[in-house]
Amino acid sequence: MFEVLPRMAPDALLGLIVAHRNDTNPKKVDLGVGIFKDEEGSTPVLSSVKKAEKIIWQTEETKSYIPPGGTPSFIAALTNLVLGADHKVIKESRVRTVQSPGGCGALRAAAEIINKANPEAVVWASNPTWANHVPLLSGAGLMMKEYAYYDYDSHSLSFDAMMNDLKAAKEGDVVLLHGCCHNPSGADLSDMQWEALVPMLKEKKLIPLIDVAYQGFGRGIQEDAYGLRLMAANLDEVIITVSGSKNFGLYRERTGAVIYIAADAKTAEIIGSQAEKIIRGIWSVPPSHGAAIVDVILNNPELKAEWEGEVAYMRRRITDMRALFVKASAEQDMDFSFINDEYGMFSFLGITPQQVKILASKYAIYMAVSSRISIAGINPKNVEYLVASLKSVIRSS
Ligand SMILES: Cc1ncc(COP(=O)(O)O)c(C=O)c1O
Repeated sequence: MFEVLPRMAPDALLGLIVAHRNDTNPKKVDLGVGIFKDEEGSTPVLSSVKKAEKIIWQTEETKSYIPPGGTPSFIAALTNLVLGADHKVIKESRVRTVQSPGGCGALRAAAEIINKANPEAVVWASNPTWANHVPLLSGAGLMMKEYAYYDYDSHSLSFDAMMNDLKAAKEGDVVLLHGCCHNPSGADLSDMQWEALVPMLKEKKLIPLIDVAYQGFGRGIQEDAYGLRLMAANLDEVIITVSGSKNFGLYRERTGAVIYIAADAKTAEIIGSQAEKIIRGIWSVPPSHGAAIVDVILNNPELKAEWEGEVAYMRRRITDMRALFVKASAEQDMDFSFINDEYGMFSFLGITPQQVKILASKYAIYMAVSSRISIAGINPKNVEYLVASLKSVIRSS
């Protein structure tokens, strides 16, 4: 049976990790992988996470299954973190949250429920969007289309073109939005643009699917939730997928959730039952450890304050590295000032695939072929080398 299967091309981004690892150049720079790194290039376990793990180790009495929909205290705490504890949809019992293995699990579970409720729904995704959105959503059987989003020439969001493309969406279609820190462009919707989207979605009866993988990495934990909270407050139906991989540093622990918001409490309850049924047919019950850590942190005021401080550190480091890179580039007569206007882990340099290739082969500087860079790969020790190499590649091609 297996002989009919063709070999698949290796994942390009995972290939970058291997190429960087095997490169013996002592000056090598990894701008490929989408994980947070400190000044030393490491991704240590957060201190708040270590403390929560100690508490879990001391108090956990069983490893038996948790419910398919997840642990109630985790679900409540995460919902409050994302929506804000006093959000009207929580008071109106219009919310059902289910735990998932990471943001990817959340996206797939959401896609399955959309497909079950409305197989005709098209998911509209930004051009560009995170590459894995496509297999995660279309793999559930959903059709996908693109709306214009990032303009590579002006290095900014083309909101008019986005609104124009979404005119072609039909009632019941789903619009995939990045809650903050757009991956791969870093170009986020402004508060005013979120506000402009609400009446359009309402009028055309489109449902937002808001992917929140970097809450706290952009402007702040509360600020980064502005758009999704606005949509939840003004629209009948909203789906929010959440990842705890980045802001809790729990990448391998597969921690996430889907927040479903329905028009009324009764429908929300029905969605909860549907979501659990779908989960039973995919991963049956979610992994517990990462969610248990988040549960302990968010329900312990001291640990929560420590975690907020750690998120602030990660956010500051990313913002500082953006500024450092822009300044160092300007000193070499290169204008990358648009990078200071973008948020989160990623931005496009805007160089050609050929230039990306030369940076890797000649200078051991690795990034995605689209020239998307992971900002956390920059540090004060490598920025001069990075900028000098970039200048020489740009000037000679
Ligand atoms: C935009 C976006 N959504 C979702 C995810 C999913 O993250 P995970 O499944 O690792 O929690 C990522 C991870 O890189 C992402 O960038």
